[in-house]
Amino acid sequence: MTRTLGIGLAGLGRMGRIHATNLTSRCGAARLAAVYDANADVARALAEELEVPWAASYAELLERADAVAIATPTGTHAELTAAAAEAGRHVFCEKPISLDRPTTVETIEAVQRAGVVFQVGFHRRFDPDWVAAAARIHAGELGEVTLFRTSLRDMTPPPPEFLAGSGGFFVDVTVHDLDVARWLVGEVVEVTAHGTASDPAFAAIGDIDTAVVVLRFENGALGVIDNSRSARYGYECSSEVMGSAAIARIDAPRRHGYEWRTPGLASHELPRDFEERYPWAYAEELDAFARCVRDGAPPRVSGVDALAAFDLAQAADRSWRTGRPVALTPQRTETGVRYETTEKDEVRV
Ligand SMILES: NC(=O)c1ccc[n+]([C@@H]2O[C@H](COP(=O)([O-])OP(=O)(O)OC[C@H]3O[C@@H](n4cnc5c(N)ncnc54)[C@H](O)[C@@H]3O)[C@@H](O)[C@H]2O)c1
Repeated sequence: MTRTLGIGLAGLGRMGRIHATNLTSRCGAARLAAVYDANADVARALAEELEVPWAASYAELLERADAVAIATPTGTHAELTAAAAEAGRHVFCEKPISLDRPTTVETIEAVQRAGVVFQVGFHRRFDPDWVAAAARIHAGELGEVTLFRTSLRDMTPPPPEFLAGSGGFFVDVTVHDLDVARWLVGEVVEVTAHGTASDPAFAAIGDIDTAVVVLRFENGALGVIDNSRSARYGYECSSEVMGSAAIARIDAPRRHGYEWRTPGLASHELPRDFEERYPWAYAEELDAFARCVRDGAPPRVSGVDALAAFDLAQAADRSWRTGRPVALTPQRTETGVRYETTEKDEVRV
């Protein structure tokens, strides 16, 4: 019988609880070895609920596990990842790796030096709908890709404590769509972004809650991303990739398999959040991580992929602040694609 990977989970908030549930109920190759949170009461309570051990310190969590999953606030990821790598533990880390580029690069180098598996939490790459569409796109069934459109809209915004340490709208939200853009279409050579705070609470912290990002791809395709922190009607995560031979469309699915019909009207419920939309994607990303550790295979989303998405998100942030397009040069390296950015002097007309 194959041994499952014992994962120690750090950070038991919104995202950590999803990983905890998946590791105890949906995953086949990984199991929950122990939980840890800076708030010991939170860790103790979840450990009792799930009947798993809890650790009183991060060092104890590392001792109890073969690998860690880090779902703490973004500003803490780098330090926890480096400590785990130094202790020889494989690392699954939520997106993004850190709040700044130098720390992100240092963290990638730390895991490379340690020789551990390092996967970053871009869950759509593991969702059955997105994976099926990607397989056909990569097989060339779309023909020449001309247009990419994606929408990521939260029904309600996260709490203010989370927003304060999120890294800002583009690094926290748009980063998912930027990773998908690279995955489905290819490398990006120009980013232009517009943003606004429809809720003054976002303006008060120097952030936005609504944005449109326009991409120009290396292969000539165009892309448009729209994002919202509070779409109100439901959680939407949808995309279209248009090619010369077909269009791939990934839509927001229904919350339930039933519909309520009254004369002339059929209505159904929508998913409320990412947990309802992606139960299997979040489970599969941890299972895939465990299989990489078991088989010695590279992860589907590497640290260098996460750096590329981060660089594109920062380019969007810069474009929003300056009102100018940002040009990017994708460089192919042995470990993956790295971006160099330059701000365009003139606004494109
Ligand atoms: N992949 C996705 O779809 C997705 C969705 C939401 C959040 N995230 C990411 O997950 C991470 C966590 O977000 P969240 O919404 O769950 O946050 P959260 O604020 O709900 O939870 C964070 C938890 O970490 C704990 N914590 C804080 N510092 C810690 C430390 N140093 N060690 C251990 N525990 C610590 C807190 O007590 C809290 O319980 C963020 O990086 C975020 O970007 C990813």
